[in-house]
Amino acid sequence: MTDCTTVLNVEAFEAEAARSLPKVAYDYYRSGAWGEHTLAENIAAWQRLWLRPRCMVDVSGRDTGITLLGQRLPAPLLLAPTAMHQMAHADGEVATARAAGACGVPMVLSSLSTCTVEAVAQATSAPLWMQIYISQDRGFTRALAQRAQAAGCKALMVTVDTPVWGVRERDIHNGFRVPDGMRMANLERPGMPTGHSGSGIGAALGWTIDASLTWKDLDMLRAAVNIPVLVKGVLRGDDAVKAIEHGAAGVVVSNHGGRQLDGAVAPATALPEVVQKVAGRVPVLVDGGIRRGTDILRALALGATAVQVGRPVLWGLAAAGQPGVERVLRLLMEEFSLAMALAGCSRVSEITSDLIHAKP
Ligand SMILES: Cc1cc2nc3c(=O)[nH]c(=O)nc-3n(C[C@H](O)[C@H](O)[C@H](O)COP(=O)(O)O)c2cc1C
Repeated sequence: MTDCTTVLNVEAFEAEAARSLPKVAYDYYRSGAWGEHTLAENIAAWQRLWLRPRCMVDVSGRDTGITLLGQRLPAPLLLAPTAMHQMAHADGEVATARAAGACGVPMVLSSLSTCTVEAVAQATSAPLWMQIYISQDRGFTRALAQRAQAAGCKALMVTVDTPVWGVRERDIHNGFRVPDGMRMANLERPGMPTGHSGSGIGAALGWTIDASLTWKDLDMLRAAVNIPVLVKGVLRGDDAVKAIEHGAAGVVVSNHGGRQLDGAVAPATALPEVVQKVAGRVPVLVDGGIRRGTDILRALALGATAVQVGRPVLWGLAAAGQPGVERVLRLLMEEFSLAMALAGCSRVSEITSDLIHAKP
């Protein structure tokens, strides 16, 4: 589409993306694991949290900004790592990064990206972080982490909810495979097969994850770099505590957008326990099902430091490339600012748990 300024919300962007993407690609992006119950619950759980707005508060001078790992951000919002942006748009992650830079919103680059971390780092002026899967080839993982650091990434985010790939039946049904000519740009090893050979993502990229992963592998990754390492994919307070004991600089409450264990609890439901156990020691991020500024408000009221969005970015990219991603990010930030005003908050620190209506 040429003009995306008339698209009013993330849901409408998904409808545009569904129109513009081949079915195989749209299904790859939208699908969840097995019965997709967790996928649906991710959105529904935010919507069940009703708000208790404060009234008669001066909200004329609002500040939506936060400080995260020493960096001032325009809003408590980041781009979650999502794979293979070239399936949505020819410019891939470079287009996404330009949009993130234009909005000042940090981007977490997936290690399954179709553009190199160096090219993406050049494309954005906002902070770039990189997501890492600890692969069966630990030497490769260490080298990739160091490569990301050398490219200018300000943090790493290690994904811990993927000892094996979740099963997405739409992809099996569609015979999904990494499209010909598309590179797994950061995963190429001399003399080894790359992502685009093989019949499906699991077969081609099996070596990039490892079922024997434990917390000591986090120690290994931390020792390889001197930038902060956050842990993504925690749904329990005790796991968040272990992550901190092993030096995590932050935790991300996430069920991988419903793409791993179907039946896993929604992030909105898991968040309070994690926040309580973390007790302010490190930032707590959350992702999964954030589609409105009101969801960002809810997440912060439950104690999150910031949220990440995955699919909304892909819908913007598929619908309109870089301007589409920019529009999605600006819509979410504008909605968040208005939601703060309507809830009687002029600063992020005023978004407190009493804004959430207690369950009967
Ligand atoms: C198409 C797609 C690809 C993803 N790829 C990755 C990935 O490579 N690494 C990762 O840690 N998470 C990945 N995720 C999970 C996201 O980082 C994030 O947890 C999730 O998308 C958040 O849910 P949302 O899409 O409802 O915002 C992916 C999600 C989607 C939808």
